[in-house]
Amino acid sequence: MTYPIVKLGDPVLETPAEDVAEFGNAELDQLIEDMFESMYAARGVGLAAPQIGIAKRIAVIDTSVGEDAGQKLVLINPEIVSTSGRQTGEEGCLSIPGFREAVSRPNKVTVRARNAKGETIEVTGEDLLARALMHETDHLNGKLYITHVSALKRDLIRRKVRKLQKAGEW
Ligand code: NI
Repeated sequence: MTYPIVKLGDPVLETPAEDVAEFGNAELDQLIEDMFESMYAARGVGLAAPQIGIAKRIAVIDTSVGEDAGQKLVLINPEIVSTSGRQTGEEGCLSIPGFREAVSRPNKVTVRARNAKGETIEVTGEDLLARALMHETDHLNGKLYITHVSALKRDLIRRKVRKLQKAGEW
């Protein structure tokens, strides 16, 4: 099933998510399938469980946006183990639709996580994948990309979102 995407203003997005403790079960497999479905429906390259209102440390990424099944990544309880280099580029988030800001991120990132079976995996990504790995791991720590832009820009986005909320357009 496709879940609606939770938007900025919902506290679940700014609260650290809980570790997953049980692996290799039908519930987890179904949740992961639903996360991919929800992400593709929203045309995103990554989705973290808090974005569908589930406060668990699960993220899915597909930088091919459904074009190449080999690019599908499932990261459970991910931790950043190393980063190097720098890249600056426009970043957006399905939970903050209509906004994009330049964000500086490492250019190469290695993440250690579990897969759906509970096996430990390591994923190294560069460029867009490195950005997605950082962005999604941030989500699971209750951090949105707007925490990486200036306070001025962040406050402006929050003010605009509050206006949209009041107008019933968020
Ligand atoms: Ni996001």
